[in-house]
Amino acid sequence: MKYHQIDSQLFIKNRKNFASKMKPNSIAVFNSNDIYPISADSTMPFQQHRDIFYLSGVDQEESVLMLFPDCPNENLREILFLTETNAHIAVWEGEKLTKEAATKTSGVQTIYWLQDLEKVLFEMASYADTFYINTNEHYRANVATETREDRFTKWLLAKHPAHSVAKSNPILQRLRSVKDQIELDLMQLACNITEKGFRRILDFIKPGVWEFEIEAELLHEFVRNRSKGFAYTPIIASGNNANVLHYTENNQQCKAGDLILFDTAAEYANYSSDLSRTVPVSGKFTDRQKAVYNAVNQVKKEATKLLVPGTIWKDYHIEVGKLMTSELLKLGLIDKADVQNEDKNWPAYKKYFMHGTSHHIGLDTHDYGLLHEPMQANNVFTVEPGIYIPEEGFGIRLEDDVVIQKQGEPFNLMQNIPIEADEIEDIMNP
Ligand code: GLY
Ligand code: MN
Ligand code: MN
Repeated sequence: MKYHQIDSQLFIKNRKNFASKMKPNSIAVFNSNDIYPISADSTMPFQQHRDIFYLSGVDQEESVLMLFPDCPNENLREILFLTETNAHIAVWEGEKLTKEAATKTSGVQTIYWLQDLEKVLFEMASYADTFYINTNEHYRANVATETREDRFTKWLLAKHPAHSVAKSNPILQRLRSVKDQIELDLMQLACNITEKGFRRILDFIKPGVWEFEIEAELLHEFVRNRSKGFAYTPIIASGNNANVLHYTENNQQCKAGDLILFDTAAEYANYSSDLSRTVPVSGKFTDRQKAVYNAVNQVKKEATKLLVPGTIWKDYHIEVGKLMTSELLKLGLIDKADVQNEDKNWPAYKKYFMHGTSHHIGLDTHDYGLLHEPMQANNVFTVEPGIYIPEEGFGIRLEDDVVIQKQGEPFNLMQNIPIEADEIEDIMNP
């Protein structure tokens, strides 16, 4: 791994929290992701499943974690099964976790090689009544692929048809949405790397630069700071490309007078950051661009103040809709009649701001979190309003990541990343 080793206390605490929510006599199982194939022997770079990572810190394929808090055999209360390594295998496969390293990483004391799983599980299952299985209930999930977890679940339930089944996912959604200080520190590091990337490109952008050249600068800066790279597919959208919300081609030349919308951020140690900024290719906004920019920035500032304990995500979006409506009226993009006649299910402001304002962020960019439950301290949210005007050839989005506090306004993990229009212009015109 490029990142510095994480304090295993985080994973010990996460397992303890998970175990405290389990029913008596139950076993929870968590699997690594597969390494996804391309063709021939080519593969995609490995990405660990965030749940087994959250509970163990193991960042390696073909790993299984089992938790059985009240197992009568004390040695089987927490177990990691890992793919076998030894000096010979290391020559071919590179460094993999030894049993000692796995304990140091995770705090789990009992480590077996994967080939022992069936035998050990047989004993565990005989003491247990319930298996907690891990399904994906994220509100945005849309997965066509059968994951390693899915295959394991099928195998497990076929092998043990008399056991009851319970769901891990709601427990994880709740736990993962409230960040530990160690996690907040890791997310701050991810945001700091993102800041370095953004400052680097402010110095690099000139009329005629290609969107992919900017992408390359960002990647360079991220990786040299121990990030694997982008936390999600980067959007570098000049001119009207910004009005395609999921534009990821990044293959156009940036023209003088246009704006560039970046939705680009680094990961660090599997934690995401998520940044959007919009800057002028020539280093100066036109008056109209600046007016729209300031409107987006104003909505962002006011929306951020609403992210306090007790707020319900849905109500928050209604309030942000009102803030945006007021700004769009001032900009002359909608009029009073548009608002009076609006469809409550698709208010007038949605013509120019058609996506959500905030999502949980953490180990996943669109992280776990139960949206119907009130916000609480140490939830981390993005705040990302935008105004998209195809007829004027530009779109603007501004996005920061903020931590809800027990009291008062959220803490902005991106407070050092320039955002005021004048500040951006000053940096681009030294
Ligand atoms: N970068 C993805 C998002 O803003 O939600
Ligand atoms: Mn976002
Ligand atoms: Mn984003």
